[in-house]
Amino acid sequence: MNPPVYVKHTRLKAWVDGMVALCKPDKVYWCDGSDEEYQRLCQQLLGAGTFKKLNPAKRPNSFLACSDPSDVARVEDRTYICSPNKEDAGPTNNWMYPGEMRRTLQPLFDGCMKGRTMYVVPFSMGPLGSPIAHIGIELSDSAYVAVNQRIMTRMGRAVFDVLGKNGDFVPCVHTVGAPLAPGQKDVPWPCNSTKYIVHYPQTREIWSHGSGYGGNALLGKKCFALRIASNMGRDQGWLAEHMLILGLTNPQGKKYHVAAAFPSACGKTNFSMLVPPAGFDGWKVTTIGDDIAWIKPSANGDLRAINPEAGYFGVAPGTNFHTNPNCMASLDKNVIFTNVALTDDGDVWWEGMEKDTGHLPEHLIDWQGKDWTPAIAKETNTKAAHPNARFTVAATNNPALDSAWDDAAGVKIDAFIFGGRRSTTVPLVTQARNWTEGVYMAATMGSETTAAAAGQQGVVRRDPFAMLPFVGYNMSDYFQHWLNMGDKLLSSGARLPAIFCVNWFRKGGDGKFIWPGYGENMRVLKWMIDRIEGQTKGHENIFGISPTYEEITWTGLDFSPAQFQAVTHIDKTAWVEELKLHEVLFTQLAYHLPTELTATKAAIALRLDA
Ligand code: OXD
Ligand code: MN
Repeated sequence: MNPPVYVKHTRLKAWVDGMVALCKPDKVYWCDGSDEEYQRLCQQLLGAGTFKKLNPAKRPNSFLACSDPSDVARVEDRTYICSPNKEDAGPTNNWMYPGEMRRTLQPLFDGCMKGRTMYVVPFSMGPLGSPIAHIGIELSDSAYVAVNQRIMTRMGRAVFDVLGKNGDFVPCVHTVGAPLAPGQKDVPWPCNSTKYIVHYPQTREIWSHGSGYGGNALLGKKCFALRIASNMGRDQGWLAEHMLILGLTNPQGKKYHVAAAFPSACGKTNFSMLVPPAGFDGWKVTTIGDDIAWIKPSANGDLRAINPEAGYFGVAPGTNFHTNPNCMASLDKNVIFTNVALTDDGDVWWEGMEKDTGHLPEHLIDWQGKDWTPAIAKETNTKAAHPNARFTVAATNNPALDSAWDDAAGVKIDAFIFGGRRSTTVPLVTQARNWTEGVYMAATMGSETTAAAAGQQGVVRRDPFAMLPFVGYNMSDYFQHWLNMGDKLLSSGARLPAIFCVNWFRKGGDGKFIWPGYGENMRVLKWMIDRIEGQTKGHENIFGISPTYEEITWTGLDFSPAQFQAVTHIDKTAWVEELKLHEVLFTQLAYHLPTELTATKAAIALRLDA
């Protein structure tokens, strides 16, 4: 199909022509983003066996896709930042010289779409035309990607109006890497064991081969909105962060906005949709975004943030009416589920839902298409849903959606929160005394790994700013960029957002979480607001300011001073060990490591010694 007449962008058309010549698809289809198109592509995916239609009486207009068992998560070891100099990718990224990578990819992409359709997917990351938004065009041979992108981004024809004849866009090429010979029957989830997720920061290009799953394939998300955008942010003076954004309104109607970074699968979606518990009448939490924030300084020095996405690609297991009632309500219709289990009445199920019903289902078809019963699960220790099973749903399904979520001007950020998953050492909440201390907290964040990425789970790894797999350049330069942003804002006379470090995941001697988490995190949020308003003093610990027991609002929760002590105390021996791990990180990141961070570490060590 030729480009539609409304596409006026000569450079874009020439790029598509070049990619068609390389990938050799049978057909080219330009997505217009209409509902009719979405329904048609979903029907096509049903025909191909990629989708199963869920029972319309239970989940109207919803589908289940089950992936190839080899293609279930982001592949960090196959993800490359191909900057001309290795130092610019830094020690935390895989790197290959761009020319060498291009030579590697050329034969893989040559003819990679044979027998398939190339979908041209125009998308805006952020409200169309917003000064904070940017545009991408994804070429993909996966209809699953096209329909997911319609939910996850502002996708369709209107993007070309914003682009006009010469607007900037990030070119993204994606192939499942499974060309079809004439007459060859397709499989429900085509993919290739040779996977490459490649970024060229200098030319702002993304090339992805071999996977159809999540962040490997929906290239607007991690590849563009974080890895490429972090480069754009460094060059242009803004921030692209792995952060949810929430609105918090107090009973007097005053509204605050908080951006919070947590590693993958550590409850960002839950936190962004938090329901305040008993005792917080009149407080309201509303969602602007659940995963990514683009933050630009405005003329008066405020930091204004948008959610570049338009939907949620969230982890299903663990989600239930206790952990996230707003999310459960969001999932009642118009959802694409991937790798969850199918119930006998055509609905979906995942681990954690038994907490709502009080019992396990008697029978399911698991994500791999096999029979599942509680007995089989017990005997074989298999999960009905893959631990990284996902839902794709439009933000507009969320009953707690913030009225400003689509505001082109973004929202003003009042506080940043950084949180890892740590069973020990890191206290419930600490406020940084200044911007540099906050950057230090974020830079040295550690977290136990989860199923969102392929590989071993549950080991503590340093995950600076929750950006370890997502920063598109040298991590130490990224720290410097944060410090520079602080300096610049301060010198413009702006009041910088407060920075807090949290840990919801501390465990007791019995191996159980001590802090109840979920909606109860509101108690910590309220303390933060009190700090911002200067209404509480807190007390100083070795690396910042923490609340006293009395400063937290406890109405409706039975949480004793001893339990509070267990989630907040600073164990000096553990912190001596922790600082050694910070040292390991700083040694790894020695090239361009800001001296402010080594000085902050020395100051903490001194306080520990005292
Ligand atoms: C995600 C992730 O999918 O962080 O959001 O892995
Ligand atoms: Mn994420």
